[in-house]
Amino acid sequence: MVLSKKKSIIDFYRMKQEGKQVAWITAYDYPTASFGEAAGMDMLLVGDSLGMCTLGYKSTVPVTMDDCISHCQAVRRGAPNTWIIGDMPFMSYQSSDQGAVENAGRFLKEADTDCIKLEGGVRVASRIRSITNAGIPVMGHIGLTPQSSGQLGGHKAQGRDVANARAVIKDALAVEEAGAFSILVEAVPPEVTAFIARKLKIPVYSIGAGPCDGQLLISADLLGQFQSFTPKFVKKYANMAEIATKAFEEYIKDVREGKFPTDDHVYHIVEPEQEFEKMFREFN
Ligand code: KIV
Repeated sequence: MVLSKKKSIIDFYRMKQEGKQVAWITAYDYPTASFGEAAGMDMLLVGDSLGMCTLGYKSTVPVTMDDCISHCQAVRRGAPNTWIIGDMPFMSYQSSDQGAVENAGRFLKEADTDCIKLEGGVRVASRIRSITNAGIPVMGHIGLTPQSSGQLGGHKAQGRDVANARAVIKDALAVEEAGAFSILVEAVPPEVTAFIARKLKIPVYSIGAGPCDGQLLISADLLGQFQSFTPKFVKKYANMAEIATKAFEEYIKDVREGKFPTDDHVYHIVEPEQEFEKMFREFN
């Protein structure tokens, strides 16, 4: 177990300057958050990927503000000493700057998160500016942005040709200019990510975008819990689906064969058996 002080924006800037990598994952519940903190994660993202990874939706689109708040609260209880990012769900910031500020504020007031993350570059610059003006730290998210994957033609890597890479770089510059403290780049070629990480003063983190200032993985991918699909950029460190299914199968077999529970799994009476038999007879 790694016990360390909760990191802040100052630590993340220092780590970039010193070339130290930030390692982080998503967490949606108390146990994952507590394991992440015990392992020494630098930060935890309560991503709207919770829609697919824990609620069983086909995409992140149906996830609500209330879903995000309740999962952020669980994660905060599990990881009281870790920097936590609340992810703004679809339609919680798209309509107006004012709506975006109000919803961003809910993450800090109701769930004690340290910052929020939202998707988009040039087109959400005014949202980022308004939220940071309200004193709330913002992490940007560019490249493949799952909430608008319909407009991108699906969950496709971005910035693979020069014109699209230029657009990704313009998004990165707009996010920094708008006041974000860091930026997450998703599914972009490493050449483009490396350029962005060199160009920006704020830390640049990657999910499927190659080396830069730190790496994010979806915990359900890393642990082998999410079964529907596995993106190319995922490294699986465990196969929890297999481990859990095997354990459940063994339990079913034990129950059916009378091997569970044994004497080890029961609470014995604390008065003589005859007294109990007398009492049982009262019901005859
Ligand atoms: O919701 C999430 O987990 C995310 C990642 C895909 C970056 O935003």
